Amino acid sequence: MKTNMYKIIVLISGNGSNLQAIIDDIKNHQLPIEISLVISDRQSAYGLERSQKAGIKTIVISSKDHATRESYDRALQETIDQHTPDLIVLAGFMRILGKTFVQHFQGRLINIHPSLLPHYKGLQTHEKVLAAKEKEHGATVHLVTEDLDGGPILAFSKLNIEPDDTPESLQQRVHLLEHRLYPTVIRWFAEDRLTCLPEGVFFEGKRLPKSGIHL
Ligand code: GRF
Repeated sequence: MKTNMYKIIVLISGNGSNLQAIIDDIKNHQLPIEISLVISDRQSAYGLERSQKAGIKTIVISSKDHATRESYDRALQETIDQHTPDLIVLAGFMRILGKTFVQHFQGRLINIHPSLLPHYKGLQTHEKVLAAKEKEHGATVHLVTEDLDGGPILAFSKLNIEPDDTPESLQQRVHLLEHRLYPTVIRWFAEDRLTCLPEGVFFEGKRLPKSGIHL
């Protein structure tokens, strides 16, 4: 019986390096966290191989099998609900999720974004920070709401942009931050240190600042 396990489901579309970091963190620290399922919208996602290697159940829900976004979201929601997860972790899942889906999982649906939110929402964040001659960049974990990349910020990590940084080098450096940040936030959830209630988000009983926790 694994009744005391904190159950998470991870959604991916590609490489799954964040998924790997989460798998490794759970294993290395023998955390009472179980990845019940990994869902991908793409059969080609390398993260599926990573999951299988780690003995984690996987499923592909392809958009090709669904005529509308509503139908896709419904299938996704039903699959997730069957596993009764405590937390749903978006880790490079490249689909925009609709209002009904997001509201259904409100407070237990999180995402990691490669920028210091609320700055640089959307795609191509590394190119954008370089073009804007920013001095700092980073990654943010936030709650998913209907506002794309705009839900309450839980935590962030940042780095200084070096003169010779390129979009590729920033992508790599931000990934390194992500691989520490995301497992840490998931651990906080599992330990009940981070709680998302209708009245707000709390860390160890205290309301989180709007900027989230700097890690
Ligand atoms: C990460 O950079 C994450 O911030 C973004 O998608 C990327 C996923 O990378 N949401 P990976 O598939 O985990 O390697």
